Parts: sequence; C-alpha cells; structure tokens
Amino acid sequence: MNNPKMSEIEIKKLAELALSAREKSYSPYSGFSVGAALLTKSGNIYGGCNIENAAYTPTNCAERTAFFKAVSEGEREFTAIAVAGGAKSAAVKDFCPPCGVCRQVMMEFCHPGEFQIILVQSMENHKIFTLEELLPMGFGPDDIA
Ligand code: THU
Repeated sequence: MNNPKMSEIEIKKLAELALSAREKSYSPYSGFSVGAALLTKSGNIYGGCNIENAAYTPTNCAERTAFFKAVSEGEREFTAIAVAGGAKSAAVKDFCPPCGVCRQVMMEFCHPGEFQIILVQSMENHKIFTLEELLPMGFGPDDIA
C-alpha cells in the first residue's frame, strides 16, 4: 500500500512531525488530539493541530490548520500530509482518517490522484491513501471552471 514515490525517510519525517504537532492540540471539549504535517512540492513542511472552541462549530481540524498556515504563506502545491490522532494524554492507538471537510479542502489544492494521505498509528505503522481513494469523484476547481 505504501507509495513508491515517497521515500521511507520522508514518510518517517512527516509521521514524526505529525506526532509532535499533536502535542500542541487545543482540544478541551472532545479530549481527542490530532496533529498533521503537510509537505509542499518545494519541500517545506507545515505542522498543524486541532483547535477547538467553546461554541464547538468554529473548531478547526489539524489538517485544515496545516493547509491554512501553508496557503497563507503563499504555498499552493502539495505532495503529502501525515495525520495522527487519538484520545489525549495517551499514545495514538488507531488510524485517524481526515474528516469530509478536510478532504474537500485538500481537493481545492491537491491533485486527487497524486496527493498522499499518510495515516500514522505509530512510527512503525502507517497506511497511505491517495486523495482520490478517500474522496472519489470529488468536486474541485476544474468542475466549476
Ligand atoms: N479532528 C481533526 O483534527 N482531524 C481529523 O481528521 C478528525 C477530527 C478533530 C476535530 C475535533 O477537534 C476532534 O478531532 C474530535 O472530532
């Protein structure tokens, strides 16, 4: 399942950064902390964590935090994102797939057949999917042109 386009070293680096971004999570309401690490085509990496809110709906997922940080710095082209999430104050136990809203944000900036989504369970265990696999027939910029 691992994509040959990404080296094991790149995958490990993104996994490590997603796990460390998770430590910054602000999640007092769900108690579920998530971290992400987003790799740009130019080789930059942006971290992100989920940021919750007492009014609940303004909550931002880790993946979107990473995307919005990157896009606001002028980045527009992306290769991969690693995601790690689980109950706070414990090690990650399961894979944490991105929510539908985050998949849609990815669809705006990424090539669905190429963009890699790395689900991190631990430094030793991950699964990789393309955006197309997680959002088949997604609606994107080409559809509104
Ligand atoms: N969350 C993420 O940050 N990313 C995901 O992929 C799934 C869910 C966050 C949103 C909320 O703060 C908490 O996890 C529980 O849903």
